[in-house]
Amino acid sequence: MTRQTESTRFNDVKAADPSNIVIFGATGDLTKRKLIPSLIRMLDCGLVHKDSRIIGLVNKRTKEEWIKILFDGLSEICHNITKDHQKWAAFTEKLILVPGDLGDEESYSRLAEAIHPLGNCKQKNAMFYCAIPPAWYGKVAQGLGKVGLASEAEGYRRIVIEKPFGMNLETSLALNAELQAVFNEKQIYRIDHYLGKESVQNLLVYRFANGIMEPLWNRNYIDNVQINVSETLGIEYRAQYYEKAGALRDMIQSHLMQVMTLVAMEPPVEFTANAVRDEKIKVLRAVRRFKPEDVDSLTVAAQYAKGIIRDEIKPAYVAEEGVSPDSVTETFAAVRFQIDNWRWQGVPFILASGKRLPNRVSEVIIRFKKPPFNLFNEHASLPTSNALIFRLQPDSGIVLRINAKKPGLTTDNEVMEMHAPYANTDAVADAYEVLMHDVLMGDGTLFSRADEVNESWAIIEPILNAWKDRVSIDRYPAGSDEIPAMEALTKDCLCGWYRPGKDHLDDE
Ligand code: BG6
Repeated sequence: MTRQTESTRFNDVKAADPSNIVIFGATGDLTKRKLIPSLIRMLDCGLVHKDSRIIGLVNKRTKEEWIKILFDGLSEICHNITKDHQKWAAFTEKLILVPGDLGDEESYSRLAEAIHPLGNCKQKNAMFYCAIPPAWYGKVAQGLGKVGLASEAEGYRRIVIEKPFGMNLETSLALNAELQAVFNEKQIYRIDHYLGKESVQNLLVYRFANGIMEPLWNRNYIDNVQINVSETLGIEYRAQYYEKAGALRDMIQSHLMQVMTLVAMEPPVEFTANAVRDEKIKVLRAVRRFKPEDVDSLTVAAQYAKGIIRDEIKPAYVAEEGVSPDSVTETFAAVRFQIDNWRWQGVPFILASGKRLPNRVSEVIIRFKKPPFNLFNEHASLPTSNALIFRLQPDSGIVLRINAKKPGLTTDNEVMEMHAPYANTDAVADAYEVLMHDVLMGDGTLFSRADEVNESWAIIEPILNAWKDRVSIDRYPAGSDEIPAMEALTKDCLCGWYRPGKDHLDDE
């Protein structure tokens, strides 16, 4: 099955007005690996206005040194621009270095002086991107506020906050209060890069642009929903952060719960930021709260041990650089949610994510109930249940698993799969391009609102509390998804745990 139209990614996209794009953390990893490559592409295709400038607050380095850091970062990821000297030189002309550091008040005054109207635009528009450790978010907001850079009197002022947004409910509430003391909610863009993924946005289109979905999309037809994000990567030199975060905070509280809200929400009254977010927050409010005594039976935590992925030996998590040898931080987490509303009562939502699993794959599996009896062979068991699988990455698309007659002189049936590839979204759209463009356009639809972030922390808080005093943890070998507790977590779900990326036709 093929799509009727080719990707028309930029056809009806509006170019934003010129903007002062300020990056805090201008020499950091996120800037080198994601922001600069995205900005280069966005300038190339007109998503960022050509008169825009990229301002970095950079400490103790000259502009030449900063440019070299960015160039080396791009060379590491093999970005084409490093081979095109003219293009690179043109790009570096857009870079403005403001000397200073995050903790120094005068740096913010220098920044304020550097923000000008650009091109024909009379406004001093500015977007402030916080690609810095979370402990600085509040202080940067304050610094900007003190020098008048939160005021929109002379142009828009928008602040972009990266994940993690707090480490629990208390810190999330505190961070929201700090930001909202300076900026109003409309000026704050909390990034969850999953919402910038084309395949994740496409979930909404699959649901709300197809009349055949809605009648089936409820507890009458659906047995369970699973959202699996499986990675082959380990923690990639991020031990300092990951040791404190673990898979529950790193993936479930943010990306997977966001995807869950898109799968479970009611149709919004219109496709605008608040209408969509109003529906998402209703889903979170309907999630049943975990009682401390239920946490064990409704969650799974495990950690990778030494193992093999694609013929390469991978060390155990506890042997990774910077990880404590007796760490019990989970690198795999799963949670079984119940959404107590009319649509979903009684349908478990199993969210699972882990590192060093056999495959890199993210998918949403909608598992339908079985037919009431076997019309074709009263002595045989019921045909297997249908499943609709939304593959988010790497090769995004839909798979419908359906029963068909086994060829030959038999009334038996077998499962066949109908595949509808969407697009290789890894190649076409980087989530950061989509999201930065949205910030420049002032569209908050794909960003989390304060109440959503707080609510998702409130939901998982009892799990964090129950897990914080853990003294041991189950282990799985790197490269394997043998996690026995997953069988228990999904024992009453039709077909059990849909292991990420496994060829399930073998099972049925
Ligand atoms: C990040 C997590 O937010 O998402 C990482 O901190 C994780 O641990 C990454 O690897 C996964 O993103 P993607 O886009 O590769 O699925």
